[in-house]
Amino acid sequence: MTILHIDSSISGDASVSRQVSQAIAAALSASDPSATVIRRDLAADPLPHLTLDAFADRTVLDEFLAAAAIVIGAPMYNFTLPTQLKAWLDRVLVAGETFRYGANGPEGLAGGKRVIVALARGGFYGADAPARALEHLETYLRTAFGFIGIMPEFVIADGIATGPDGREKALSQALAQANDSVQQMAA
Ligand SMILES: Cc1cc2nc3c(=O)[nH]c(=O)nc-3n(C[C@H](O)[C@H](O)[C@H](O)COP(=O)(O)O)c2cc1C
Repeated sequence: MTILHIDSSISGDASVSRQVSQAIAAALSASDPSATVIRRDLAADPLPHLTLDAFADRTVLDEFLAAAAIVIGAPMYNFTLPTQLKAWLDRVLVAGETFRYGANGPEGLAGGKRVIVALARGGFYGADAPARALEHLETYLRTAFGFIGIMPEFVIADGIATGPDGREKALSQALAQANDSVQQMAA
């Protein structure tokens, strides 16, 4: 299995999404001794904004197509995804490659891959949270991956900005969930 491990937080070692995505990628590789991990750090090596010319470069698209599992560290910035991650998605959602428009409307062509997203958010955005309507990260990623035929899974660390205790609790719960979700797949 080829695992594509992507990060997009600008916070380096202090990043929660990076720690959780690392735990998911490690658990996935441990479940398959023949696994190969491809690393793409979108903060260390940002992709430029999309241009028409950029469509000629298939590097990012082919890397995505070759992966059986994609692990993504996704912090919430200003209610949505980092622009670094958007630039990556702009190269992955490509008509004729990962989706097509048919007689019945759009059709996803990238089904069969596993996408696991490590979300880190400063506040609380669960289904019953008052701020749920401000959530445009998880909902956007569900829409974008759903459009190409993939139902993403989420490991969520919420309330990171509420103080050290809240951060520690959310991180340890997310790390435990990271292991559980991968083990459930392996079982
Ligand atoms: C530039 C920036 C914008 C942010 N915007 C939001 C936001 O809109 N809502 C929120 O709940 N948290 C926000 N946060 C807090 C982060 O979501 C939180 O710190 C999270 O842990 C970031 O992920 P990371 O630890 O992997 O970097 C923001 C943080 C930064 C640095």
